[in-house]
Amino acid sequence: MRLAVFDTHRYDRGALEEANAEFGHALSFLEPRLTLQTARLAEGFHAVCSFVNDRLDAPTLEVLREVGVRLVATRSAGYNHIDLEAARRLDVRVTRVPEYSPHAVAEHAVTLVLSLNRHIPRAFARVRDWNFSLDGLVGFDLAGKTVGVVGTGRIGRAAVRIFRGFGCDVVCFDMAPDAAFAREVGARYVPLEALFSSAEVISLHVPLTPGTRHMVDAKSLARMKRGVMLINTGRGALIDSRALIDALKTGHVGAAGLDVYEEEEGIFFQDLSGQVLQDDVLARLLTFPNVLVTSHQAFLTREALVSIARTTLASVRAFERGEPLENEVRVEQVRPA
Ligand code: NAI
Repeated sequence: MRLAVFDTHRYDRGALEEANAEFGHALSFLEPRLTLQTARLAEGFHAVCSFVNDRLDAPTLEVLREVGVRLVATRSAGYNHIDLEAARRLDVRVTRVPEYSPHAVAEHAVTLVLSLNRHIPRAFARVRDWNFSLDGLVGFDLAGKTVGVVGTGRIGRAAVRIFRGFGCDVVCFDMAPDAAFAREVGARYVPLEALFSSAEVISLHVPLTPGTRHMVDAKSLARMKRGVMLINTGRGALIDSRALIDALKTGHVGAAGLDVYEEEEGIFFQDLSGQVLQDDVLARLLTFPNVLVTSHQAFLTREALVSIARTTLASVRAFERGEPLENEVRVEQVRPA
């Protein structure tokens, strides 16, 4: 099948081409993000492959449908960038990659914790400048600290296991708690308020939905322990960035590790070096020595890329053959009647 792959970078192209040896689709790699302005590039394709910062809102999906697209195969786990209601109305099917490597994301979340705690970016910059002093580099033992994991799906569970391995006391929150999992790993579920008020490190692993948008806002930040470390590898809009900035300025939040940012679309994945950063909120976040921002790279391991490519191309093949779509996302699953 002819597949237009939007927002392509060298790393996805390599993985998709390699995996495609097994599938034989005709892949066209396009650099632009898929938005209303670029949707017509999909003319003549029955299927498009999108990524997290594409915007498949109703007008974009209408154009896609008009030019002949019947399948959106997003090469991501999250699908908050796709208007599923509109997709259903237009009879455009949507598939995703529900699981590729939960370890990739969980390990990145923990990387942010360790890097912030032990001031690795500052230490690295210092010794490169032959400054071998240790002032300002004091961290804390993770062992024995309380870590709050919000969302114990695939990624959250992998994170819980790692934190337990460090000897942390892990408290969890999920709208669908799994008591057997908690027993098995020696963690415990608590109400969200209790997690916020007891944890020294909080890591977010829930999807972005109307119910989780800005779950970390001024009110919830005020409940957290002074000096808390906040980690977000979920979606940017789980955190109200302006409220976070206020809490960082007063020192209430001790450190923040952000792999995602609520206005990352059009910024993350791009090389904007040499340009003036227009986003004042992100620019302010980047001024804090205790904030570590990565550009939505938590998924970026070889294992994850291979798995993403295979699952995406298998969905396209199943669609082409009229077979059931194992990884289809439907609006009913998200908003049950
Ligand atoms: P999952 O679907 O396995 O787990 C999500 C968990 O969140 C489930 O246990 C669910 O019950 C819980 N949940 C959903 N809504 C909730 C709510 N309102 N309150 C409490 N709990 C709620 O998803 P997975 O694979 O663990 O991924 C989590 C998120 O991580 C994705 O939705 C995506 O946004 C993000 N992600 C980020 C990546 C990155 O590169 N930074 C890569 C992959 C995923």
